[in-house]
Amino acid sequence: MPRPVKSMYSRNLFQARRKLITEIGFFEPLSQAIAEMIYKHAAIERESLSLIDMGCGEGSHLSNICENMRSKYQKIVTGVGIDISKEGILEASRSYANKIWTVGDLANTPFMNEQFDVILNILSPSNYNEFNRVLKADGLFIKVVPQSSYLKELREIIYNQPEKQSYSNVDIVERFNENFQVMDSSRICYTIPLGNTFIQSLVQMTPLAWEATKEQVKLLLDEDSAQITVDLEILIGKKR
Ligand SMILES: C[S@@+](CC[C@H](N)C(=O)[O-])C[C@H]1O[C@@H](n2cnc3c(N)ncnc32)[C@H](O)[C@@H]1O
Repeated sequence: MPRPVKSMYSRNLFQARRKLITEIGFFEPLSQAIAEMIYKHAAIERESLSLIDMGCGEGSHLSNICENMRSKYQKIVTGVGIDISKEGILEASRSYANKIWTVGDLANTPFMNEQFDVILNILSPSNYNEFNRVLKADGLFIKVVPQSSYLKELREIIYNQPEKQSYSNVDIVERFNENFQVMDSSRICYTIPLGNTFIQSLVQMTPLAWEATKEQVKLLLDEDSAQITVDLEILIGKKR
């Protein structure tokens, strides 16, 4: 980064995110589905491939997906993660030493043209010009967006307005369609039981809690256990 950037994404948030991902497999069905799609659409005939996670946060998704590609599909993946948050990249580089971790803006990355076989973009903003620039001509773009019931148990407590209690990604999908040719998509929906310690991590890990009042946060933290819904859409595209 040419200069430091202030971010709401703190070290606590990234540590909580990593705890949920690595200790109870909060997003494991997502990692498995993405690895399967990379295999199906980009890797069947290749021994190795390069993958960049744009807005990688603390790096667990990238690490899990590369590990799935190695153990299930015997593919060698060079994994690169970029995030604007120095805290996220510090966590990533401490936890996963065998990847390339970069503090930077996904709208202006320090990579050459047409370098990557796969771009991942999970629950993070996009910059389609930059993604098109660094993706190979036959590369794959994978974007993960929330579906209507994503973390609905939290939304129902945090938002009074019914329209905010579910999530609409219509605009995001439209923008994806304008910039990439959609090849495939898949909805991943499941519930996961959380005990009190992991409810605390959930509250810490999500930007949703930034909009909650102290009373709402207390209501969430007082729960002994909860069933939490993960509802995500995976969009797969090729360059137009
Ligand atoms: C909701 S978090 C998702 C992080 C990670 N993909 C995950 O699912 O755990 C959104 C991430 O996007 C990053 N981000 C936001 N704007 C960015 C930008 N312009 N360049 C790079 N990263 C950015 C944030 O720092 C944050 O880590």
